[in-house]
Amino acid sequence: MTDTITIRTPDDWHLHLRDGAMLRAVAPETARHFARAIIMPNLVPPVVTGAEAASYRDRILSALPEGSAFTPLMTLYLTEDTDPEDLARAHADGLITAVKLYPAGATTNSASGVANFDKVRPVLEKMAEIGCPLCVHGEVVDSDIDIFDREAVFIERVLDPIRRATPGLRVVMEHITTMQGVEYASEGGPELGATITTHHLVINRNHILAGGIKPHYYCLPVAKREEHRLALRRAATSGDPTFFLGTDSAPHTDANKLLPCGCAGCFTATNTLSILAEVFEQDGALDRLEAFTSFNGPKFYGLPANEGTITLTKGEPVTYPDHIDTGDGVVTVFDPMMPLHWRVVG
Ligand code: NCD
Ligand code: ZN
Repeated sequence: MTDTITIRTPDDWHLHLRDGAMLRAVAPETARHFARAIIMPNLVPPVVTGAEAASYRDRILSALPEGSAFTPLMTLYLTEDTDPEDLARAHADGLITAVKLYPAGATTNSASGVANFDKVRPVLEKMAEIGCPLCVHGEVVDSDIDIFDREAVFIERVLDPIRRATPGLRVVMEHITTMQGVEYASEGGPELGATITTHHLVINRNHILAGGIKPHYYCLPVAKREEHRLALRRAATSGDPTFFLGTDSAPHTDANKLLPCGCAGCFTATNTLSILAEVFEQDGALDRLEAFTSFNGPKFYGLPANEGTITLTKGEPVTYPDHIDTGDGVVTVFDPMMPLHWRVVG
């Protein structure tokens, strides 16, 4: 039985680090095991210009522990007023790696997102021309669409038309949660990738809603039926280069989660690799963990895989903190509801 695995140092292709005291508390949790991460720009106010991305990157670098080699890969938040020339300059200067599309109102801090997709057509065309990938939060927000159908409807009504209208645009379907997402991504060719979170491999909607409401399992896109979770497990563990890890680790203080109208987000940075190793072992796919965490993402983004490695060993159940303290308050660490046996040892 395998009880040690060594893989290239992983990257996280979708991460929320926030700012200020929260940033200082959560950045080390990711930097401990990951070499790079795509940093989400949904601050308040959002990171919209190249200059804002540069200044946010500097704040992240100063929040890292002494000697950390972690590289934040910055993104811009696409608005209807985004200037294609500023975006192109930031991309050419290596300041940004991608641009994030939030449909207006879809999730936490998305009020400045896109409502009228025709307005961003020139920006998307510019991105296709310069080879800058678009990371997409794929949910429609129409009030007549059931929240559990938001992703499937988005693919049909928004994503597919955008891709047809913008040949050459590289797109990442972020945090897919449905079998429709898996299917569409796997048929999309090399210009289409998809990230899958750690928590969507573990929870389905029953975990949020059955036996009492569990705010710490509430995130967006919301977890779906069990058959969708199983489709995500098959995709993540398949080795298919379309699929790679984007944890969507999204810290909110307990004070902001445990409310009559609580925030969406699961904080998984602390125990993500132990959970993933457990999941891949359960599915007989430990030998494909590295593709998911360390090879498929860089390949999509046209970056080299990391040179370094990390080693995990299997043993007695791992202990990890159930929360971390931040200057803003306590953030609860995602509970995978199962013992974890794999620990990162170096
Ligand atoms: C994210 C956040 O808190 O910023 N929340 C979440 O549930 N995933 C926003 C997002 O990625 O949708
Ligand atoms: Zn996110």
